Amino acid sequence: MAKAPNTFTCSACGAAYPKWAGKCEACGAWNSIIEEAPLSAGPKALKSKGRTIPLSDLATEEAPPPRASSGIGELDRVLGGGLVAASAILVGGDPGIGKSTLLLQATASFAAKGLKCMYISGEEAPAQVRMRAQRLGLSQAPVALGAETSLRDILTTLDAERPDLVVIDSIQTMWLDTVEAAPGSVSQVRAAAHELVTFAKRKGVAVVIVGHVTKEGAIAGPRVLEHMVDTVLYFEGERGHQFRILRAVKNRFGPADEIGVFEMTGDGLAEVLNPSALFLSDREAATPGSAVFAGIEGTRPVLTEIQALVAPSNLGTPRRTVVGLDSGRLSTILAVLEARCGIPFTGLDVFLNVAGGMRVSEPAADLAVAAALLSAREDVAIPPDMVLFGEISLSGALRPVGQTENRLKEAAKLGFSQATLPARSKTGQAEGMRLRQMADLTAFVGEMFGAG
Ligand code: TYD
Ligand code: MG
Repeated sequence: MAKAPNTFTCSACGAAYPKWAGKCEACGAWNSIIEEAPLSAGPKALKSKGRTIPLSDLATEEAPPPRASSGIGELDRVLGGGLVAASAILVGGDPGIGKSTLLLQATASFAAKGLKCMYISGEEAPAQVRMRAQRLGLSQAPVALGAETSLRDILTTLDAERPDLVVIDSIQTMWLDTVEAAPGSVSQVRAAAHELVTFAKRKGVAVVIVGHVTKEGAIAGPRVLEHMVDTVLYFEGERGHQFRILRAVKNRFGPADEIGVFEMTGDGLAEVLNPSALFLSDREAATPGSAVFAGIEGTRPVLTEIQALVAPSNLGTPRRTVVGLDSGRLSTILAVLEARCGIPFTGLDVFLNVAGGMRVSEPAADLAVAAALLSAREDVAIPPDMVLFGEISLSGALRPVGQTENRLKEAAKLGFSQATLPARSKTGQAEGMRLRQMADLTAFVGEMFGAG
């Protein structure tokens, strides 16, 4: 029988092609199509019988996985309450954002708690890592340091040493001699990560894999690592801002969407215990275009300032510049303001920004965004002691959002005394807060900015 031809598959989205192409038509990724041996190796594949696998029921009592605390509260929470033994964790982020700094501090903290920790750097020489440790005041931490890129040697070492935790910094520098491709290529990154994850499960070692985010926003080896590991954390922040946010986007051992907030200082990352106070610290009182959003990040309420600037445009297509929010969401809100409230933004440049380098993805931010836009357009300041939240539907109605009580409590704690929120929200006990509950955007515009 003739050998089945190889197939070509996009490593980012899985679309199959009969021949190679530079760009995947299905997901638009460049250089992501790889050649693979055909899946079915003919009828002989299932000739021999397998063994029956043991089955159990769902009621089986399972103890929660044992966790190790690092003592860094912000990190422990993002991990879901501490480090789970034998788990694989991916830490992604832009180059230079502070991943190596965070993980060196984390390994030192875990080591101080009695875990056997190793730090393998494929990017820096031992002297460089030592210098960083010195700067962080961690020279005396009992962390075993290695500088290596050959995964075969690393795995042999790990097998001999059997640490509780190992950090691999970064996966893009690692290479396996069984794979004929350059380090950082899709197949190397995928194969190396697979080896590390298998090792973690088999030998009970917690493995932290560092991955640099490439320009397109996917960790090199497009997304191939996310499904392999138990936990995916992204370390984000704006360059030029000192705040860094560690965000769990997937966690098999805890809630996703949890965030930890850090501040990059002269001697490493410091925990930020009250992020709301920090994000609002530079706020100028009563400026048009500024609205405070009472948001929820994971299990915690976080207040952020949303800033808008609206200015006459001299461009055919006015500018829509967004930092920290989804630009599609801005377009929707602008369209609703125009169609439902009769407030057009045609001929106006719109700039929207979340202060402090924070990124907001909750639909509950809609009302604060609309308020900031209207406030900037009308040049009327929103009362500085007011928070806003609520989702805007395409009809212009305001929809209640989850955790209203928590949002209000956090706002009250930070000295805010009034809140604008959707009608029918479950407010609970909102002590000391004046609540303005609105059914739709038109009512909001009427009350805040006159008839619109
Ligand atoms: P790094 O951890 O090397 O980033 P990554 O591993 O994500 O590429 O962090 C690099 C930046 O952090 C660098 O620009 C300097 C800054 N930094 C500080 O501001 N303070 C410090 O104590 C340290 C160690 C780094
Ligand atoms: Mg680094």
